[in-house]
Order: sequence, then structure tokens, then C-alpha cells
Amino acid sequence: TGNRIGAEDIRRRKGGVPIVCLTAYTYPVARMLDAHVDLLLVGDSVAMVLHGHPTTLGASLEMMIAHGQAVMRGSTKACVVVDMPAGSYESSAAEAVASARRIVEETGCQAVKLEGGVDMAEQIAAIVAGGIPVMGHIGLQPQSVEKDGGYKIKGRTEENIAALFRDAEAVEKAGAFSVVIEGTVEAVASDITRHIAIPTIGIGASGDCDGQILVIDDMIGMTVDRVPKFVKEYANLRDTISDAAARYAAEVRGRAFPGPDHVFSATSGKDKV
Ligand code: KIV
Ligand code: NA
Repeated sequence: TGNRIGAEDIRRRKGGVPIVCLTAYTYPVARMLDAHVDLLLVGDSVAMVLHGHPTTLGASLEMMIAHGQAVMRGSTKACVVVDMPAGSYESSAAEAVASARRIVEETGCQAVKLEGGVDMAEQIAAIVAGGIPVMGHIGLQPQSVEKDGGYKIKGRTEENIAALFRDAEAVEKAGAFSVVIEGTVEAVASDITRHIAIPTIGIGASGDCDGQILVIDDMIGMTVDRVPKFVKEYANLRDTISDAAARYAAEVRGRAFPGPDHVFSATSGKDKV
């Protein structure tokens, strides 16, 4: 873990070469992404993406820890940040600190992330005071989608823009080392990036942000449900996997698989599979 990128390394990259971030939830995907990214986020999006829950509210502390452990096992270089799930931090600073400690102690991750600005500043400050780096998350906050009445773009009104700036300032002042800005009008995310001294990580935000993040399954075309406009698909694994399954099914039904290379002869070959 000595060579891992840390939260302070990320903080120092404000205004520099864009910080490359992706989500990761599993050991093999972490193995594949580690060489290419600066930061891997074990997002609570795992609840939707891998577990099929309708919203991120389906994530639990146990779920986040199990996936955090898998991503840590699969990476050696990236800064690993684990999302704090809904219900694990909002009610008090003490609850937030206890949950953050559990995540870091049980996974060995470099930092935690939580959603909220002015309303969660106390929690961020308490976790940071306890020695755990925190990444903020402002703008569209998926854990609040039920009380917000849907996934709505932020920064469309003067009032909301002012609130976003207050949130960004609060997260920075509370000691966060960086902040995700999600689903926010481009010019507003750009202005906030210039306004605060910690790196902003954009998703559906602005190319001016100090870094970018996408949900891994979205960007490799693994997501079976609708993907948001801000996603760019760099690969289409849906079709690759569906095609592999179709060919396998045809070969099993046609007794073309297994072939001679995939079975063991009594008289030749090795003793191990
Ligand atoms: O859970 C998640 O994947 C996230 C990113 C989209 C920022 O919070
Ligand atoms: Na999240």
C-alpha cells in the first residue's frame, strides 16, 4: 500500500492534469482499471448496477465494505474511495465517524465519500478530525432522489446556483480533499471549480472540472437499464456477453461443446485442471 496514491496527492492536483476516476466494485475490474486511473470509487451505485436495487438507497454498510475489500484486493496504485451509504452518516457527526471508521478499518481504503454540502459539513469535519480523508459530493445527490422527486439537473435557477456555491464552500471549509459535482449546469460547475481550492470531480458537470468520473458499467456498455445523457459508452459489453452466451447455448444444444480440448483423457494429459 506504500505506493498508493493518497487523498493528499489528489488534493495537490487542483488545476493540473485532469484526475482520472472510475467506479469499481469487484476484484477483476479493479485489476483491469488500476493501471489507468488515479482514483477508484466504490460507489453506492453498486446497489443499482450490480445488485439491481431501484436506487442507491439499497446500499448497506456491509455491502460497501464487501465491495471495498474486493477493490482493495484488486488494486495497488489507485486511491480507493468508498461511498458512505444512505443511513450511515446523516443523523449525527458521531454516527458518521463510527461508520467511516468501520469502512476504513475493514477495507483499508484511502478515503470515504458522502453526499451533502452545508447540511453535512459537521459530519465531514468530524470524520476529517478523526484522521479519515473525505471526498464531498454536491449537485445532484442520488441518495436524495426520493425527496427531490427524481434525478434533476442542478444549477438551473439563481437561487439554486447560490445554494451550490454555499455547498461547495462548506465542503471545502469542512476539510474535504476533493468534491464530486454531479448533474449540474456546465457553466455553474466550471465557476465552482474556479471558486474553490480543492479539486472538483465532474460527472454530468463540466470539462473544466479538475477530474472526471463515470460509473464503470455505464462506460463499458454493461448497464441494462437507461443510461444518463452524460455517459459516453467506450465499449459495448452487453452485446459481447449476450453473443458469447448465445454461441455457448447453441454449442451445448448441438453437442459441439465440450470438445476434445475441454475434457480429460484417462491415458494422457496432466493431473491438474
Ligand atoms: O455511486 C457512485 O457511483 C457515485 C459516482 C457517480 C460519483 O457516487
Ligand atoms: Na454514490
